[in-house]
Amino acid sequence: MDRKKKTLTDFNKMVVEGEKITYLTAYDYLTAKYQERAGIDMILVGDSAGMVQLGYPTTFPVTMDDMVRFTAAVRRGAPNTFIVGDMPYMSYQISNEEAIKNAGRLIKEADCDCIKLEGANPEILDRVRAITGAGIMVMGHIGLTPQFATQLGGYKAQGRSAEAAMKLVDMAKKLEEAGCWSILVEGVPAVVGKAIKEQAGIPILGIGAGSYTDGQLLIYADMVGYYDDFTPKFVKRYAEVGKVLQEAFEEYIREVKEGVFPDDSLHAYKIKQEEVDKFEEALKGNN
Ligand code: KIV
Repeated sequence: MDRKKKTLTDFNKMVVEGEKITYLTAYDYLTAKYQERAGIDMILVGDSAGMVQLGYPTTFPVTMDDMVRFTAAVRRGAPNTFIVGDMPYMSYQISNEEAIKNAGRLIKEADCDCIKLEGANPEILDRVRAITGAGIMVMGHIGLTPQFATQLGGYKAQGRSAEAAMKLVDMAKKLEEAGCWSILVEGVPAVVGKAIKEQAGIPILGIGAGSYTDGQLLIYADMVGYYDDFTPKFVKRYAEVGKVLQEAFEEYIREVKEGVFPDDSLHAYKIKQEEVDKFEEALKGNN
């Protein structure tokens, strides 16, 4: 099914009309294809790819080359979906120039529609201004921001005191002022997600931020039961893909061992009997 890719205008309209924005991560061609077929509004090619696709324990080792490769594959699978490319660790922290160059790579080489970066400290706000100044749309990301995990004291929910919650509201305002067109809020109580949404003049997407945000994101491998190293509290499982895969692999192994697969009447190429006869004659000459 061909459909029109959603734009900033469509997302703003959805927010005004109270239609929730659906948002999932993807890292490869096939997953993106099925998500587009299902009608997803937006795809994040997250640096969570480092854990989900590459098997690292954190997102820190992910490189720009990794992200360009994953994002370009997702674009091939979902040509008509709004795609957010994630800026990996140290691709934007160093300087405005590096940030613009790397954001530009995701747009030029991987054809995504916008980039996402984490945090809202003065340096990051400067990066947002620089990247938007270069004409690239930026999605902010606050709350449990994995690239700041050590400074946050680990991978844990944020905004759980009045002071910390107010700080997040302030960060969202600053990101909006710096030019972000939307903000992703991760790992905060629902009341904090609600306050950020109510105070913002731009779309607020949430992952583990309660039900009030303008849209919902999940890591696809969590929600289909594919990635099972750990499952955050806010994830709902919609399928058990890991179980289905493992069962299929086990059955394949059993059938090959038992000689059940392949069945030559079903899974082998045909050859004309006269060619078989000639072949057998030729083989005899070989002996
Ligand atoms: O990389 C990612 O998938 C993300 C989400 C965890 C928000 O940034």
